[in-house]
Amino acid sequence: EKGGFDSFMEKEIHEQPAAVRDTLLGRLDEKGNLTLDELKIDDSVLRSINKIIVVACGTAAYAGHVARYAIEHWCRIPTEVELAHEFRYRDPIVDEKTLVVALSQSGETMDTLMAVRHAQEQGAKVVSICNTNGSTLPREADAALYTHAGPEIAVASTKAFLSQIAAAYLLGLYLAQLRGNMYKDEVRGILQELQQMPEKIQAVIDGEQQVKDLGTSMKDAKSVLFLGRHVGFPVALEGALKLKEIAYLHAEGFAAGELKHGPIALVEEGQPIFVIVPSPNGRDSLHAKVVSTIQEVRARGAVTIVIAEEGDTAVEEHADHIIRIPASPSLLQPLLATVPLQIFSCAVAHAKGYDVDQPRNLAKSVTVE
Ligand code: M6R
Repeated sequence: EKGGFDSFMEKEIHEQPAAVRDTLLGRLDEKGNLTLDELKIDDSVLRSINKIIVVACGTAAYAGHVARYAIEHWCRIPTEVELAHEFRYRDPIVDEKTLVVALSQSGETMDTLMAVRHAQEQGAKVVSICNTNGSTLPREADAALYTHAGPEIAVASTKAFLSQIAAAYLLGLYLAQLRGNMYKDEVRGILQELQQMPEKIQAVIDGEQQVKDLGTSMKDAKSVLFLGRHVGFPVALEGALKLKEIAYLHAEGFAAGELKHGPIALVEEGQPIFVIVPSPNGRDSLHAKVVSTIQEVRARGAVTIVIAEEGDTAVEEHADHIIRIPASPSLLQPLLATVPLQIFSCAVAHAKGYDVDQPRNLAKSVTVE
């Protein structure tokens, strides 16, 4: 049942190209327009939305952070991400012009359900992005967009995360097309890039041995830090969560720019630090800034594990280890950069002899508040 793998988590990591491919499947109509037939909310309502709030917990919330960068960039709609269990306690400003996007693998996370109910009481429309057919969340939401990752057994979420991100991209592109923020051709161009992602994810998985060896060699680390910027920031948070969950290792993710505002004081000789490097072809000077962050932490004794695009030579002299990922548009990079972090935490947990699929104290879905 584990398909020859030692754990469901490993199997599910390997299923990610298919999970993303299936989530993207059949979204173009005969005229080449992006269609989301399941999005059963009136176009007029979707055109009038002036705010989006993404609610979710854990890994799904990190997918929400990635979604926010994409949706704001493509649709120019102010977008917030809120942990579902914090949402209603801050008396959020929500009305008929608010679209709430609820992300959940299981569709049964009570915190997320309660946030959705609260939003609906205030008149908001709710779209759920969910992996479990017929679960409570998509039944209660005004519209359901399903991810097609297949059942996820391991407690630590992997393929559901990547497909949530893919589905959120579709939602963002659809809204941008509908609201006239993007031309059809632009939408189609990004869809074409998206369609190449499963193959690129496969290429990252094909390089897994290097990452597994790294995980095994770092099994006795006391703490691991993860740094990223822009969409690399939620990837850093996700990398840290995976390591906490299954390897019981202290791990933290930071926005790389925040480092000098405090966390850099943590860095001492031998501290392993993952750095997710944005594309050198991306916007602004982000790439150069992240490269200088690598330099800064290395100068203080950190062991740097750098996740960088193929052909990005600027990182070479500052990296103790380089994990290569294929080049991709900046906003889509999380679909690739997350994968080595999943493989790493899985390898550390295996090396420590832990039950990767059933980590202590955790349940696959949290059905109580
Ligand atoms: O089923 P959901 O996506 O709503 O679950 C949300 C979180 O509980 C879940 O992502 C959790 O953080 C995972 N254990 C992460 O690996």
